[in-house]
Amino acid sequence: MKKTMIKGTGRYLPARLVTNDELAQWMDTSNEWIIQRTGIEQRYWVPEAGGVGASDLGLEASKIAMDRSGWAPEEIDLIIFATLSPDLFFPGSGCLLAHKLGLSSTPALDIRQQCTGFLYGVATADAYIRSNQAKRVLLVGAEVHSTGLDISTRGRDVAVIFGDGAAAVCLEGMETDIKEGVLSSCLHADGSLAESLMTFAPASRENPRLDENMLKEGRHFPTMDGRNIFKTAVRRLPEVVGESLKKADMPLAAVDLFIPHQANLRINQAFAKALDLPESKVYNNIQRFGNTTAASIPLALDEAVEKGLVGAGSTVMFLGLGAGVTWGAVLYRFAA
Ligand code: UT7
Repeated sequence: MKKTMIKGTGRYLPARLVTNDELAQWMDTSNEWIIQRTGIEQRYWVPEAGGVGASDLGLEASKIAMDRSGWAPEEIDLIIFATLSPDLFFPGSGCLLAHKLGLSSTPALDIRQQCTGFLYGVATADAYIRSNQAKRVLLVGAEVHSTGLDISTRGRDVAVIFGDGAAAVCLEGMETDIKEGVLSSCLHADGSLAESLMTFAPASRENPRLDENMLKEGRHFPTMDGRNIFKTAVRRLPEVVGESLKKADMPLAAVDLFIPHQANLRINQAFAKALDLPESKVYNNIQRFGNTTAASIPLALDEAVEKGLVGAGSTVMFLGLGAGVTWGAVLYRFAA
């Protein structure tokens, strides 16, 4: 049976390190508040002058992942690019990345699923691979948040959370009868909560899509009902873990490591508590990178692989909830 396997991973963070104390110079916040409420100690942002888009970060991460997988760009059958911060309003960053990789006809698909972009991306890649429409899929999660944040007291609840960064995963089809590779994926969306976490403008439903008034009100910056998103995550994440395990007919104890989206350390701690998981079974790196949205799960995976926390024979679960709201989980077993 055709299975989707992770061949290699890579990550890339821009060089500009931004500490909580630096943020406190620009808005009414403090290192203590940010650490206590989110766990975040620092994040990386692209140069303030601009000129670096999501596809640029994605390119660097992709080169590392492809190098580790022994892939040449020409061997890629499909690029899936997950981001909420595309280089341009359109076309998608996947097209830009393909061009930067020197490709001129490889299909490229953008996924605009925010924090669950990686989960939707793996599920899509898996469908392409298992239906023999693609053998090698390059899946990238990349975000440049910093150029789109309200870096003032008005936007402090959102601005302190987000970091820039990228990670890439090379996914390849393999014939095997062993229970390995992508074992199950569960995806969900509930648009009734769309306005709990959104960037309003530029909006096609407005004419003009962005005007001076909207700029003045900061409607081009992300806004969030943090408490509502927090509560929804703490309810939905344990639920989708159960659903995903049931689908793969596996017990909770079979999962060696949970790699959740890095939205807030307290969300991941509450999730672990709800399932009675030891902290060592839940991977967190939000302390160092902040919330990198579509990049966060593959970035954490790349670190977990590098640290030897997961590898041959390990079973991992990727999971997350974010804007949409969308949520989901993917259960994966590395080849022994
Ligand atoms: O990845 C996408 C999905 N996103 C998430 O999952 C985010 C989920 N939500 C959260 O992470 C949290 O709700 C936040 C970190 C955004 C906020 O933490 P909270 O504990 O829910 O705080 P809050 O919004 O209830 O605000 C508490 C207080 C408020 O002041 P008052 O009204 O009590 O006087 C805020 O104005 O904290 C204030 N506040 C801040 N103070 C210092 C909000 N942001 C800040 C800040 N620094 N950066």
